[in-house]
Amino acid sequence: MSLEGRIAVVTGASHPRGMGAAVAAKLASAGAAVGLVDLESTAGALAERTAGIVASGGRALAVHADATDPDSVQSCVAAVVEGLGAPDILVNNAGVGIGSHQLLANSEEIWSQTLAVNLMGVNRFSCAVIPHMQSAGGGVIVNNASVAGLGGMLGIPAPYTASKHAVIGLTKAIAVEFGPDNIRCVAVCPGSVKTQMHARVLDLHMTTYGLTYDEAEAFEVDAIPLGYSCEPEEVAGVVAFLVGPEGRYLTGVSIPVAGGMAPGL
Ligand SMILES: NC(=O)c1ccc[n+]([C@@H]2O[C@H](COP(=O)([O-])OP(=O)(O)OC[C@H]3O[C@@H](n4cnc5c(N)ncnc54)[C@H](O)[C@@H]3O)[C@@H](O)[C@H]2O)c1
Repeated sequence: MSLEGRIAVVTGASHPRGMGAAVAAKLASAGAAVGLVDLESTAGALAERTAGIVASGGRALAVHADATDPDSVQSCVAAVVEGLGAPDILVNNAGVGIGSHQLLANSEEIWSQTLAVNLMGVNRFSCAVIPHMQSAGGGVIVNNASVAGLGGMLGIPAPYTASKHAVIGLTKAIAVEFGPDNIRCVAVCPGSVKTQMHARVLDLHMTTYGLTYDEAEAFEVDAIPLGYSCEPEEVAGVVAFLVGPEGRYLTGVSIPVAGGMAPGL
């Protein structure tokens, strides 16, 4: 599968074991030029991910943006357009998993921060990129939601669950409105992926259920029919398929990449 000539923006791409970095590397290895986006506070790590892609013969550009800040998002997309060209792939991967598993313990601030990144960040980047896709005759947006966007799950903070359900709604709305412009929009719904966010989920299991680290890991894996938490690269492979030519008839769908982990109610 070739992505030669394609230009991608991948948000939340700084962490060495994050899904964003894995997606950026995968798209670049297939030939896409990739704008790797993350917070300014991650500058060193983002530069390393970008340099890694360039050292492997890929085209990549590091751009800082805060998904909660509309001006920052607009400048970021403008920098990608100037540095690489108009993007026809957007992977909205940036996200936060904060707050308590107990609804009543979540402050207004936790709700605002969660929605500002997980929902409005996706909306901001989509709105900034869509006009470029329209001018180019099409494009594809992949939103990194979660199995927690498909159902309520015990132990996962309600603001996170609500934000990921909302992203799936936004995915469908974009798919319906912009399908006639040849712009597809799909969501991936990972289950348990070994990233820094996954480490926080294990922490939550430990505090919620009074488990040791090993017990928390066993608890997590128990809920996965395939019997393991996956690596970020296993999600990146699915994203590459979705943005590539073989995924061309998929839009508006939300695909669990979860080893059979059930989404809950
Ligand atoms: N790890 C899992 O098991 C899992 C499961 C389902 C869904 N997800 C989703 O996958 C995505 C990637 O998460 P990950 O597990 O790779 O963790 P991660 O923490 O490595 O990735 C999240 C990235 O988003 C960036 N980010 C946070 N706030 C931002 C902001 N305001 N502006 C720009 N960037 C910002 C972070 O700096 C980080 O690089 C997230 O949307 C997450 O909700 C993760």
